[in-house]
Amino acid sequence: MRELGIGLIGTGFMGRAHALAFNNARAVFELPVHLKLAALADADTERAQRCAKDWGFAQAHSDWQALINDPNVDVVAITTPNHLHYPMAMAAIAAGKAVYCEKPLAVSLEQADAMRRAASTAGVVTRVGYNYQHNPMITLARQMIASGELGEIISFQGEFSEDFMADPASPWSWRCEVEHAGGALADLGSHLLSMARYLVGDVVSVCADTQTVHARRPVVKGSAQLKPIAVDDQVHALLRFANGARGTVSSSWLKQGYKNHLSFEISGTRGTLAFDQERLNELQVCRVGQDGFQRLLAGPALPGYAAFSPAAGHQLGYNELKTLEVQELILALAGQGADGTDFEAAWEVERLATAIRVAAKEERWVHVEEV
Ligand SMILES: NC(=O)c1ccc[n+]([C@@H]2O[C@H](COP(=O)([O-])OP(=O)(O)OC[C@H]3O[C@@H](n4cnc5c(N)ncnc54)[C@H](O)[C@@H]3O)[C@@H](O)[C@H]2O)c1
Repeated sequence: MRELGIGLIGTGFMGRAHALAFNNARAVFELPVHLKLAALADADTERAQRCAKDWGFAQAHSDWQALINDPNVDVVAITTPNHLHYPMAMAAIAAGKAVYCEKPLAVSLEQADAMRRAASTAGVVTRVGYNYQHNPMITLARQMIASGELGEIISFQGEFSEDFMADPASPWSWRCEVEHAGGALADLGSHLLSMARYLVGDVVSVCADTQTVHARRPVVKGSAQLKPIAVDDQVHALLRFANGARGTVSSSWLKQGYKNHLSFEISGTRGTLAFDQERLNELQVCRVGQDGFQRLLAGPALPGYAAFSPAAGHQLGYNELKTLEVQELILALAGQGADGTDFEAAWEVERLATAIRVAAKEERWVHVEEV
C-alpha cells in the first residue's frame, strides 16, 4: 500500500479540524493509501511543536516553506488566514505537491485565477474546504434534484448567518481586513455560493447590496482604541441561474441567535427541499400533493453516514463532514474521487463573489462573465 505524507500548516480552529479529520479518516475508512502525518507548521514554533506531538505529526516546522520542501510531505493542507492561501498554495504547486486549502480560495479573483491555472499546468490534485457539501444529507438532496424528483428547479433561497461579530465590541481580527480576508461574504457567504452552485448549477447574473454596519472596532478585546473596518458585515443578493432558476442569497456575521445557519430552500415544479446546517442530520421535503413537509433523518442507508454509525438518528457533526472531505481528497489522489471542490470550482465561487461585490458597488445587475 502506497504511503502519503500529510503536511499541515496552521494550528487554529481549522488546523485542529484538519488534524482530527486526517486521524479519523485513517480509523474510519478503508483508504487506498496509508496516511502518514508527516509534518506540522505554524508561525508559533512552540505551538507547532506541542500540536505536532499531541496530534500525531512526526515533525514540527516553524517555517511553512520548510514544510513544503520536506520530502516526506506529499499533500499540503493550508489552514492559515485567507491572504496566506495564495503564497502557500503556489509554493506547494511549484513543488509538485497536492494542495488541500481552506476556503475561500484567495483574497482576490486574480490570485484565485493564478492558483487554478498553476494547479492545472502542474497537474496536481487540489481541494478546497467547502466541507458542508460532504454531508450525506446534501448528497441526498443533490440526488433528488438530479433525478428530477422535485421537477424543474425554479428557486434557490439561501442564507448563511452567524452572530460571532454581532457585538460592536468584538475586536478587529484578520477577518476584518479586505486584503487579508473579505468580510461576511468571503467568510460565510462563500460556503453558501459554493452550495448553490453545487446543487443548482452555474449562476449567470447577480444584483446585490452589501453593508458595513460596525465601521470601527477595538484593536484588541477591551481596548478603547478603535480601528476602521471596510469589509461587509452583511450582504443580500439576487441570482439568476444558467438553468433559468432564480435565487436569493444573504449572509451576515451580525445576526443574533444564529451560530451556523447555512440554510436553503430549493423549490421545483414538483416539490421543495429545506436544509439548515444547525440541524445537519435532517432534510425537510415536500413533494407535490403532500400537505406540508416530511422530515428525513440521516441514517446508515447513506454511505457517508454508515461509515460512522450503524444506527439511524445517532447523528453526524461538523468534524465528520471534515473527515468525509478528507476521504474524498484521498480518493481523488488515488484517481477514484470526482466530487470535491477543486481550485477550478473554487475559482468559480470567487468569480461569483466578485460579481456580487461589483453589483453592490455599482448598484446594477452584473453578468458573472464580466468579471
Ligand atoms: N471550512 C470551514 O468550515 C472553515 C471554518 C473556519 C475557518 N475556515 C478557514 O480556515 C482558515 C483559517 O481559519 P481559522 O479560523 O482556523 O483561523 P485561526 O486564526 O484560528 O488559525 C490560523 C492559524 O494560522 C497560523 N498562521 C498564521 N500565519 C502563519 C504563517 N505565516 N505561517 C504558519 N502559520 C501561520 C496561526 O498561528 C494559526 O494557527 C481561513 O481561511 C478560514 O476562512 C474554514
